[in-house]
Amino acid sequence: MNEIERAGATQDRTRLHMIDLIRKKRDGGTLDARELSFLVAGAADESIPLEQLAAWLMAAWLRGLSLEETRSMAMAMRDSGEKFDPRNLGKVAVDKHSTGGVGDKTSFLVAPLAAACGLAVPMISGRALGHTGGTLDKLEAIPGYRTALTLAEFEAVLKRCGASIVSQTPTLVPADRILYALRDRTGTVENPGLICASILSKKLAAGLNALVLDVKTGSGAFLRKREDADYLAALMVATAEAAGTRTAALMTDMSQPLGRMAGNWIEIAECVELLRGGRAAGSEDVRELSLLLAGWMIHLGGKTDTPQAGYQLAEAALMDGSALSVFLKMVDAQGGDVSVFDDLRRFHKPGATDVLEAWQGGFVTEMDTTALGWAVQRLGAGREKAGEPVDPHAGIEFHARRGTRVEKGQPFATLYATKQEMLAEPLELIRKAVTIAETAPEIVPLVSGVFRRESAESFLASLTRS
Ligand code: URA
Repeated sequence: MNEIERAGATQDRTRLHMIDLIRKKRDGGTLDARELSFLVAGAADESIPLEQLAAWLMAAWLRGLSLEETRSMAMAMRDSGEKFDPRNLGKVAVDKHSTGGVGDKTSFLVAPLAAACGLAVPMISGRALGHTGGTLDKLEAIPGYRTALTLAEFEAVLKRCGASIVSQTPTLVPADRILYALRDRTGTVENPGLICASILSKKLAAGLNALVLDVKTGSGAFLRKREDADYLAALMVATAEAAGTRTAALMTDMSQPLGRMAGNWIEIAECVELLRGGRAAGSEDVRELSLLLAGWMIHLGGKTDTPQAGYQLAEAALMDGSALSVFLKMVDAQGGDVSVFDDLRRFHKPGATDVLEAWQGGFVTEMDTTALGWAVQRLGAGREKAGEPVDPHAGIEFHARRGTRVEKGQPFATLYATKQEMLAEPLELIRKAVTIAETAPEIVPLVSGVFRRESAESFLASLTRS
């Protein structure tokens, strides 16, 4: 901002009062772009007290945000700090973002896959939120890995490796850092407008040319109902496209954890096994979803004419080891100790372990994946309060999936906790969250739909008409 703009912004802000914006939203009103910029700037520079932000978030959660409000909030959050300009990289910049799930670890595969295919992947990620795990918490399970890079360091890693996964910092999308942590503590996560603004602020601040969104549906998604997830997907595609980023959203299954592992280090280890060409049966869904998402990134990044051709390029990069070498280079460039990958099991040192056996025979028919996510958190893998450390070694290894036939007494899940006394509650949570019954369940497809610009806009227009 130059001096004249700064003076204007200060003048604008002196005419607004946060209490008025809280009351307006509480009473079902719509905030304009100037009011939302005031709110977002006040969150970023911490001039608005947290209790006022929390009250406004709850009002917004209850009343909802209009399309225009969502767009204005996303743009104001994008502009709340420094931005990354990927033009110096000399490559097309692409990324993927997920709306959050349990065992959702595709970032560790898609970033190196797309980079190995000649694209740049500047990925700004988040921490654990609600019942879902956080990309940054998982990466920090690698000793030494630094997520808080300066923009200059971010650019240097991208030039060297093609991919870099970092956090928001006090200078990069600071508004989301504050609002994200506050939403986590105030029960205001599950709202399409707030999720859209949060995700897109980080993605648009990275100056992306193309973006692939992984929008989760089912029992472990923030928005469980299909119509809500469709709305969120359409909202994000239309908003990102309006900001000049080629975008597609894949509607993907979260009716069970993705893959075998849910936690921090154990998810990284599962991905390294896949990057080494491993094909463990319980990890096939992670492999397939990662290749599908990477295929879309490669296609939208202009490397192939179709997403199917992108999938084939991604699979070749997985099989020939080039994606693995990008991943290892990135970890090393961000200070991580790559020797921990020499023996994935040996590095894993949980404080306490227990095995939950199937309590009856039959098919695994239902998994309340949100409850399973809370079980992972309570083993020590997530945090109760913002800023708390997480246990890199805590988590759950699942030995059965929806549709698996289990015998009574067969291992169903192995739990890894920080200490012995933290095992009892998660054991109970898992037992209650999983249904074993006589009849096999219907298998849900991994990807059940795709939104592109046209379909997103017509979906949103159909809602306005009805
Ligand atoms: N991921 C984000 O970055 N923000 C949200 O609000 C939800 C998921």
